[in-house]
Amino acid sequence: MRLLTGSARLAGVTGWPVAHSRSPRLHGTWLARYSIDGAYVPLPIAPQDFATVVPALAKAGFAGLNVTIPHKEAAFAICDVVDPSAARAGAVNTLVFRNGKITGSNTDGAGFIANLRAHGVNPAAGPALLLGAGGAARAIGAALQDEGVAVTICNRTAERAAALALQLPGAKTLPWAQRSAALADYALLVNTTSLGMAKQPPLEVDLSAAPHHLVVSDIVYVPLQTALLDAAQARGLQIVGGLGMLLHQAVLGFEAWFGVTPEVDEALYRIVAGDLL
Ligand code: ATR
Repeated sequence: MRLLTGSARLAGVTGWPVAHSRSPRLHGTWLARYSIDGAYVPLPIAPQDFATVVPALAKAGFAGLNVTIPHKEAAFAICDVVDPSAARAGAVNTLVFRNGKITGSNTDGAGFIANLRAHGVNPAAGPALLLGAGGAARAIGAALQDEGVAVTICNRTAERAAALALQLPGAKTLPWAQRSAALADYALLVNTTSLGMAKQPPLEVDLSAAPHHLVVSDIVYVPLQTALLDAAQARGLQIVGGLGMLLHQAVLGFEAWFGVTPEVDEALYRIVAGDLL
């Protein structure tokens, strides 16, 4: 075990709760791998304390934080500067504290795209159908649009799909009931809902209309391979799981806080997946 010095760099993840987060394991693996004098810790911060505690952590010498549920909008509000990725996503998942300023970015979209590329998938191969209209859909939709992809939002609650389409100019919407029949028109299907997650209802999508080139992707990673991905694999479609997005979205924060660009590889995947494997 490497001991910290008095000039160790500090970062962490804040959520409420935060105990389920795999980020300490992920960043801790990189810190050990690159022999960095630094630590990455879980920080449970209650919503009512967020706006006071986070700037205090900046004053206490932290280099920055990852931000998870339910703080992504609150993090946006406390930033001195938000970069274009956060502005487009309307939410911040990565904070960097530097020279007395708090800068926010959103690495979810870039992480999603990098994970597709790591699987040999060209994100811009054709139109994308996004299931869901929450924060994850917005970040991923914006990142896909930045790659020049035509995006369609399909959500159980049509009003939320319409609202998200307004935030992603050019995006179309599709009624939830048409999600299976419409697949013929798409090159990429992304589940951004919580459906299919352990203890949640299953996501019901019939893949029989899917073209052979459809790539099926899920941001859920508990279980590592969802029923949607099982069904897609059984039809011979290429699948992309959610854990890789978590690994890839972490790269930019680690680089900003610790000054090393870390590598996402199979060994890291296995360590972070841990008991999920
Ligand atoms: P996040 O910000 O993490 O993306 P969210 O804002 O809570 O999460 O969004 C969850 C998504 O899962 C929403 O698109 C939600 O659909 P609604 O807008 O209709 O609520 C979707 N979702 C959750 N449970 C669902 C269910 N049983 N059937 C269909 N969609 C569901």
